[in-house]
Amino acid sequence: MPIGVAWFTRILCAVAVALLAAGCGDGGNVATTPSTTTSAAQTPLPGLPESTAGFEDWFRLNDRPIADSPDTPHGTAKNVYMNRDRDEVVDGPKLRVPLPPGTVVVKTGGRGGDPMAFVSVMEKVPDFDPQHGDWRFTEYVRTGEAAGYTVLAEGPACWACHAGVTGQDWLFTTPD
Ligand code: HEC
Repeated sequence: MPIGVAWFTRILCAVAVALLAAGCGDGGNVATTPSTTTSAAQTPLPGLPESTAGFEDWFRLNDRPIADSPDTPHGTAKNVYMNRDRDEVVDGPKLRVPLPPGTVVVKTGGRGGDPMAFVSVMEKVPDFDPQHGDWRFTEYVRTGEAAGYTVLAEGPACWACHAGVTGQDWLFTTPD
């Protein structure tokens, strides 16, 4: 009799373990579905730095695309994104400056049929370059939507214009 109980208990345990395993499996699937989506979104566009991954889902400073003008570079119909929550960095009509270390600002600009032919990046890296707000400036370009980005210009090519807006931590764009 005690042997029978022992067997019965073992069978119950085996069933419980199987159920648990199935439960875990299901739970795992449910959990991995969103994270798979997130990691896909967090792959940077080919040729762009890792820090820009998923930038199109970030806080966008401008409501409508910024129009082209003869005085401004960076392509047509521009958008400016930041890897921060709006509440964290916006104070009324202004940005709360200086922006925190690790802030990444991405600006897209179009050329021809490609709305993101140019991608300009400012990345705030502690002690990277205190004279220029610790921003790492890099602009990328691609020849078409199927092509990867390559570096077009960086650092010194960017400072002259952006030095005019040090009062706003080197950023021109104010939040809409
Ligand atoms: C001729 C002046 C000029 C030069 C040179 C320039 N910028 Fe800009 N940049 C601007 C202006 C003006 C804006 C504001 C948006 C607009 O009107 O295009 C801007 C906006 C940006 C933004 C979005 C944040 C902001 O400041 O509004 C980034 C990022 C950026 N530039 C990166 C760069 C990089 C990287 C370089 C160098 C490769 C560079 N810029 C060189 C004038 C310049």
